Amino acid sequence: MRGLVSLMAVALATLTTPAAAQEVISGTIRADQPGPVLSRNIQGQFAEHLGRDIYDGIWVGPDSTIPNTRGIRKDVVDALKAVKVPVVRWPGGCFADIYNWRDGIGPAAKRPVRKNDWWGGIETNAFGTHEFFDFAEQIDTDTYVAINMATATPASMREWMTYLTSTGEDTLAQERRANGHAEPFKVGFVGIGNEAWGCGGAQTPEYFANEYRKFATFHHKNGSTFHMHNDLSALRVASGPNNDDTKWMEVVLKEAGPLMDAISLHYYTVWHGDWTQRDTAMATGFPVSHWNEILYQAWRMDEVLRGHEAVMDKIDPKKRIGLFVDEWGTWYRTEPGTEPGHLYQQNTLRDALVAAGTLNIFHAHADRVKMANIAQAVNVLQAMLLTQGDKLAKTPTYYAFAMYLPFQDATFIPVSAPAPMLKAESGSFPAFTLSAAKAKDGKTYVAVANADKDKGYKLALDLGVLKASKVSGQVLTSAKLDAHNTPGQKEEIAPAPYRGGKISGGKLLLDVPAKAVVVVGLE
Ligand code: AHR
Repeated sequence: MRGLVSLMAVALATLTTPAAAQEVISGTIRADQPGPVLSRNIQGQFAEHLGRDIYDGIWVGPDSTIPNTRGIRKDVVDALKAVKVPVVRWPGGCFADIYNWRDGIGPAAKRPVRKNDWWGGIETNAFGTHEFFDFAEQIDTDTYVAINMATATPASMREWMTYLTSTGEDTLAQERRANGHAEPFKVGFVGIGNEAWGCGGAQTPEYFANEYRKFATFHHKNGSTFHMHNDLSALRVASGPNNDDTKWMEVVLKEAGPLMDAISLHYYTVWHGDWTQRDTAMATGFPVSHWNEILYQAWRMDEVLRGHEAVMDKIDPKKRIGLFVDEWGTWYRTEPGTEPGHLYQQNTLRDALVAAGTLNIFHAHADRVKMANIAQAVNVLQAMLLTQGDKLAKTPTYYAFAMYLPFQDATFIPVSAPAPMLKAESGSFPAFTLSAAKAKDGKTYVAVANADKDKGYKLALDLGVLKASKVSGQVLTSAKLDAHNTPGQKEEIAPAPYRGGKISGGKLLLDVPAKAVVVVGLE
């Protein structure tokens, strides 16, 4: 019976939707009112010791027949380099709070093998500190190390940081050199705690704030006036709230705000916004009716951010403290036949719309949102890449990120056009969202994420002070709602040249197909 239900679902999801008359919607691009810089870190990634993210996904070991550099997959490195991954968070997630960094240094054969208590299976520790920083160097990215504050101590954090960064003659620096790395590693960000309200110790915000103060005190960050000697430059990120928990935000900021540079937020797109119902939603072969609900839950990111920003603005009006959405993305039922704890799911055109729509939301909140890390890089949740043996697939989410590359460190430009609202089971959401920015290459880029599965839209955006005569870009779409790519099979979905744009009478005219991501550059 279950097989029949899912077969019917596949049939429904693969139906092409009927062509419908397009509406013309007028809007404006306000290049005369530039906003904040869109931190490239908004396009950050997350790699956790979970399922096949690290092992199989990133690490195959130096003796593997799969092409690798010092054990790290070449195909994955090439693909991630191509999207200029700005920062990677590691080693978790919930895994971070059971991780002993000492397990992952020194000769591989001597490293202890542990049970992965969170996600199941065995942790060989073949991928540890040196391997992570090697991976980061290979893909040319900044590093965000999540330290264990639940089952480890401030002393353990301090020792790991010293091992990573010391330039002195101390024993930990010597140990790092003996393990093959003469120079200190570059640590960009340090996460103190992960989901402290949940897998990181089920703490109350009051208790966490005190614990955080203790850990942050021993971090000795440069610029801190508390210590006589400060030698760490990594920014400190406090474990922040889940979803709409503004009480967590308020208590932790009030009690520990001065000791942090950023606070994290976790928001996943799950069925009915209820994590316990996540198995209701399938990654592929979903009923047509599921499309809007998932897109609505993704759109809720905007409301969630507004709630937290209102609290942050009261306590930190100068916006010194960044909001890092260091886990976000879709969370569905795992693929049949895979280990449930490994969180392996396919990734479709719908996920690309979630990705592009969410990036548009982050851009609109860029005065506070300074980093975001989609979960996760390879083979877990809303992955960029899927691997099977020596085969690799680039997901529609990967392609959305690729199309948004020009937005990295670009300057936000307000753009608006009134989108009709679409109905889902739990609420309404705009049919499309937009972003515009002046990029570092001097061009202005406009992105449209049209989440309307039935209708395309003709947009007429007044260019205002913007001078442009040429439009070119890419479109990501498909006739199939659940178009996806599978390792070892011919690609079903990838960006194509976009031919629906022109400039006429001081307006940018865009003919945006249904269920499509469009990014254009103006010259
Ligand atoms: O991304 C998977 C898990 O989701 C992370 O380990 C945890 O932080 C969150 O609950």
